[in-house]
Amino acid sequence: MTDVSQLIRDEVRELSAYHVPNPGDAIKLDAMENPYAWPAALPGNLAELWAEGLQTQALNRYPDPAASALSQALAEWMGLPVLANADDLDIVLGNGSDELIQLLAMAVKHPQSGARACILAPEPGFVMYGMIAKFVNADYVGVPLAEGFELDLPAMLAAIETHQPALIFLAYPNNPTGNLWSQEDLQAVVEAAPGLVVIDEAYTAFAADSRVPWLAQYPQLLVMRTLSKVGLAGLRLGMLAGQKKWLHEINKIRLPYNINSLTQYSASFALQHMQPLTAQAEELKAQRSALSEALAAIDALTVWPSEANFLLFRLESADAALVHQSLAEQGVLIKKLHGAHPQLRQCLRVTVGTAAENERFLEALAVALRSS
Ligand SMILES: Cc1ncc(COP(=O)(O)O)c(C=O)c1O
Repeated sequence: MTDVSQLIRDEVRELSAYHVPNPGDAIKLDAMENPYAWPAALPGNLAELWAEGLQTQALNRYPDPAASALSQALAEWMGLPVLANADDLDIVLGNGSDELIQLLAMAVKHPQSGARACILAPEPGFVMYGMIAKFVNADYVGVPLAEGFELDLPAMLAAIETHQPALIFLAYPNNPTGNLWSQEDLQAVVEAAPGLVVIDEAYTAFAADSRVPWLAQYPQLLVMRTLSKVGLAGLRLGMLAGQKKWLHEINKIRLPYNINSLTQYSASFALQHMQPLTAQAEELKAQRSALSEALAAIDALTVWPSEANFLLFRLESADAALVHQSLAEQGVLIKKLHGAHPQLRQCLRVTVGTAAENERFLEALAVALRSS
């Protein structure tokens, strides 16, 4: 009888499956979702229109493998047609941006030796970059951030020189720290990279800057986005924009029909009616300011500025694990980051919810802090 260890790679056996707690009836402020239910917030008879269209989708047929109509609408949403090199650019869609990270990681090799690729990202950062590197048997280098969660530019440049990464991921804004990198630092990293650089704009709806314009300037740059944070996490739709020559190769390893018909239809519908989703993002930005102020007013708590739909905070004199547990017992789910990285000591991350949800969270936090 063959043992698991004989057949399954060590890196895979050492991984833990991505754990998502069952929320039950809890207020869900742990996963950076939009709190407003689709299609409830659509004005007029749009919800009905959407549902009617859904019924006309030919589920007996395979979907359009290239999702052509949706890709074109997304390219416009990202502002690609107005770029000077629009004809050289394209877009590839993934089952969430997670799938696009995986496709990129599967495709690359070391830029000089052609051997196993290295993937590099600043840390603390989005955990899937490192996990996916393991899935595909690539090396992964996490470069610690500097004080205040800025990029440590000398450390980044040194790591790039040493490891010659085939792929660099830069979440902009970063998860879980919520900040945008300084543009000079970002530019220095892009210019020093020997391979592809992916600017991951998952939280762009809540941020003051986008680096899409750089697609006209840097041939090795790719910009990735997702519909997950603007209210459509259930659709699983991510997009990667960049020069056709790269995306042509990525497309070869994309499984056919990775974007199902219901997602293609619903996302196209949403893009034709973006106003409610844009208004929700604006409301969440206002809620972010209010929540940030309320957290800042709490003794022995440090909250960092955020350009995303979540706030990272540190408990200076309480135990983050106990507070996290107390919040869960009171029906409020947020993310415990203590233990995930040395720079996240006693840190928790809360997704910005509706005014009522944030209020409930603050009340539960006050209870948790009193009892811990
Ligand atoms: C920086 C960043 N990129 C990508 C993703 C994944 O998004 P998707 O839902 O499109 O797979 C996340 C999700 O939390 C994220 O934080």
